[in-house]
Amino acid sequence: MDKFIINGGKKLNGKVKAGGAKNATLALIPATLLASGTSKLFNTPELNDVYTMLKLVRHLGVQADFNDGTIELDTAGVSVLEAPYEHVKKMRASVYVLGPLLARHGYAKVSLPGGCAWGPRPINLHIEGLKKLGANIDLVDGYIIATAKRLQGNRINFDIPSVGATGNLLMAAVLAKGETILNNAAMEPEITNLAMMLNEMGAKIEGIETPILHIQGVDMLKPADVHTIPDRIEAGTLLVAGAITGGTVTVEGINPLHLYSVIAKLEESGVSVTYNGDSATVNAAGVTPEAINVTTGPFPGYPTDMQAQWIAYMSVAEGVSTVTDTIYRDRFTHVPELARLGAMIEVKDNSAVIKGGNKLSGAKVMSTDLRASASLVLGGLAAHGRTEVLRIYHLDRGYQRLEEKLKQLGAEIERVPGSEY
Ligand code: EPZ
Repeated sequence: MDKFIINGGKKLNGKVKAGGAKNATLALIPATLLASGTSKLFNTPELNDVYTMLKLVRHLGVQADFNDGTIELDTAGVSVLEAPYEHVKKMRASVYVLGPLLARHGYAKVSLPGGCAWGPRPINLHIEGLKKLGANIDLVDGYIIATAKRLQGNRINFDIPSVGATGNLLMAAVLAKGETILNNAAMEPEITNLAMMLNEMGAKIEGIETPILHIQGVDMLKPADVHTIPDRIEAGTLLVAGAITGGTVTVEGINPLHLYSVIAKLEESGVSVTYNGDSATVNAAGVTPEAINVTTGPFPGYPTDMQAQWIAYMSVAEGVSTVTDTIYRDRFTHVPELARLGAMIEVKDNSAVIKGGNKLSGAKVMSTDLRASASLVLGGLAAHGRTEVLRIYHLDRGYQRLEEKLKQLGAEIERVPGSEY
């Protein structure tokens, strides 16, 4: 298991480029299953989660080639309609194959996802929505077995604007007979990227970027070539790296409006953020950040995937701040590890209260999940002395060679391959 060794306390300065969005790619790859033929996805990040999804679709019979940021996917040979536990347990997003397999082939057998580092993550909204479209759903030995001769359009209301359920039901509804309405749908940019791809394939989706999606089902879709949007969470993480170290960092190749809530919070904390069409610059030189409260919410609110990074940043801010996660109430496994760096944080229910104003100092810390590991790297960059961030495989799920990008900005960080502890 790889680890990072960071010699912290250095200001980060310079320019770095964000990659394609992990959470868009994990929906765009399954979407190709809705048509027969070859689709191309451009600006695809080289991430472990992407390789996991490619392994799954290859298991279904897809021919997939991934070179230099472009994936070519030929779905003409799809013959297996089952996503086994071995795949789904590694990555919950594997559930995204349920909708397209059912819509195109009338059958799908997909393992129920387990929990994750921070607790159970149900898929009841996915299942209830498919039933509303006329699917017959059985739960057998930990598997969802979904059958439907032809899905029928219907009105679906989501209690929670679930990203995954919106994506799965979008991919099911585009081939259903008649009209489907998805009310209280997620508006995350990754869902917009998916909906635009589906329309490129011949789907008829209206209301994109609104909470009410209207889908007129069609009989057939064709392959499409699609550009993956930039990764707003990687971009946000890199901007916070500039802020937490008191440097000046420009992140290029982004869409600042996908990140506006994070930019607004950074400005509230006292650092300056300027941005144009495809880049943003944080300037924290000489600034002691102020403690600023954050409550996560569905897009365009502050993203839960930037919650851990904000807690790390508030650990070095002046004053007391509260960070509340309304999406995942127990996503705080990074807190005890940040405390090892000297952060003073109390967690109560779904809120963390951070007493800032103290210097962090290096220590050995353990990654527990993807965004937790990002927050530990940020803490290590700010902490004086040597920090070792263990189990970096969590980080590699969602960040493409983060250590190289941070080195580009002047960080003293090394990856030590294969070390146990
Ligand atoms: C997506 O997960 C992202 N993953 C997550 O990013 C992100 O944290 C999450 O959306 C919220 O923005 C991908 O896109 C691959 P949800 P997803 O369904 O779709 C509850 C990362 O770090 N819920 O919007 O699984 C659920 O428990 C990852 O990149 C139900 O109750 O999230 C949660 O509390 C982590 N029933 C809330 O809704 C359901 O059927 C939001 O979940 C589905 C969800």
